[in-house]
Amino acid sequence: MNQMPFLRNLNARMDRILIQIIQRGVTDKGMPAWEGALSPSDIGKMADFILSKTEKN
Ligand code: HEM
Repeated sequence: MNQMPFLRNLNARMDRILIQIIQRGVTDKGMPAWEGALSPSDIGKMADFILSKTEKN
């Protein structure tokens, strides 16, 4: 892992990406944006929940 710096902190980076997807949605594909509809705390919990379901976690 130390030889591959781009693989460091993958979970934290995935978490940030998931938070952005949930906040902004994928509006051109039909997913609504959730910023404002869910609290920042709930958005963070949703991201953690999704991450907890990934096989590498
Ligand atoms: C709080 C509820 C929701 C959460 C946490 C959530 C989360 C996500 C995430 C993380 C992705 C990206 C998946 C990936 O990269 O493989 C995604 C994609 C998507 N979501 Fe949601 N979503 C929510 C609600 C919804 C709702 C209500 C709809 C539809 C009415 C929806 C429609 C979609 C669609 C169509 C995509 C695929 C976009 C694409 O093709 O890239 N989502 N969602």
